[in-house]
Amino acid sequence: MKITLSVIKADIGSYVGHNLVHPELIKLAKEELEKAKSRKDIIDYYVFNCGDDLELVMTHEKPVENPKIHELAWNIFKACTDKARELKLYGAGQDMLKDTFSGNVKGMGPGVAEISFEERKSEPVVIFAADKTEPGAWNYPLFKSFADPFTDPGLVISPEMNQGFTFEVHDVVENKKIKFKCPEDMYDLLAFIGTPGRYVIKHIFRNSDNLIACSTSTSRLNLIAGKYVGKDDPVAIVRSQHGLPDVGELTEPYACPFLVEGWNRGSHVGPFMPVSVQDSMPTRFDGPPRVVALGFILRNGKLVGPVDLFKDVSFDLARQKANEIADYMRIHGPFQPHRLPEHDMEYTSMPKIKEKLKDRWEPV
Ligand code: F6R
Ligand code: MG
Ligand code: MG
Repeated sequence: MKITLSVIKADIGSYVGHNLVHPELIKLAKEELEKAKSRKDIIDYYVFNCGDDLELVMTHEKPVENPKIHELAWNIFKACTDKARELKLYGAGQDMLKDTFSGNVKGMGPGVAEISFEERKSEPVVIFAADKTEPGAWNYPLFKSFADPFTDPGLVISPEMNQGFTFEVHDVVENKKIKFKCPEDMYDLLAFIGTPGRYVIKHIFRNSDNLIACSTSTSRLNLIAGKYVGKDDPVAIVRSQHGLPDVGELTEPYACPFLVEGWNRGSHVGPFMPVSVQDSMPTRFDGPPRVVALGFILRNGKLVGPVDLFKDVSFDLARQKANEIADYMRIHGPFQPHRLPEHDMEYTSMPKIKEKLKDRWEPV
């Protein structure tokens, strides 16, 4: 029996600013998914938040990109938007870019990561969710877990992993995709994914048997809407253990808070701070960007868990370092490299400022 794990998320209003999903919205989403479960539309579900993003985890027997599952998520986000409006929450309906559902939430605002597979004897999966950053934020940690032997000893020691992994990368600007087989194509892969705002790891496959190991969300809201409508706070599903990166190898890249784009007004570079769900409340300068990791075991499609992986005290130092890096980055104020380069500012309110001043420029 093939099981599909779908994680569909949206920011449909938060409080007090862009900080947190209101408990009423989480409650409503749970109620709706409980109904879907008793109708047998889904096998199981889990609802959580990462900052101001509402994350719906669903398991079912339908294939990926199934209109029924996408519509279920869309309708829940709509109901939550109504609730958010009733509560006068901030930015109610932010990621709901379209009025009517058209078969797939892709291109409509919400982010989606889905993966379909036959359950292994034991099927550990880790769901990563982030706030105040963009889909390309997964490039660096996924590369480290699936291609860097200094992070992942399994690549050297485990016979199943020793043949490496293949990365499917999407160009989110020109809407095309390419596959890089590692370790052979590693340098070419890095030439692209080092530009995370454009080239995003979408899927990862194990070379020894083509098993799918990872799926991420890749939507770029500003590219869809043609204007700045918030960052596309991403999600990723990663299968783990027994011939795949183990939980320790998947979480290890987060032990040092690397820099990602996003943070305040989606216009700044800042440290990616690994936190528990409870601490995913980006307040300082609307950040710094947060990442949570929930581990589950799948049992015939049922979700056993989660284990809130970054709750582990061994990430305390990463959090402390992230706070120190945040201090350091903030001293630059409106200057690069804290503020994003001009090109990336084109997706913010920068075009309006340029327009306002265009007549005041004189030839030199
Ligand atoms: C970044 C983010 C926030 C907002 C900021 C301004 O992804 O969500 O930093 O950009 O709080 O929000 P508005 O424009 O809604 O006042
Ligand atoms: Mg928001
Ligand atoms: Mg968000």
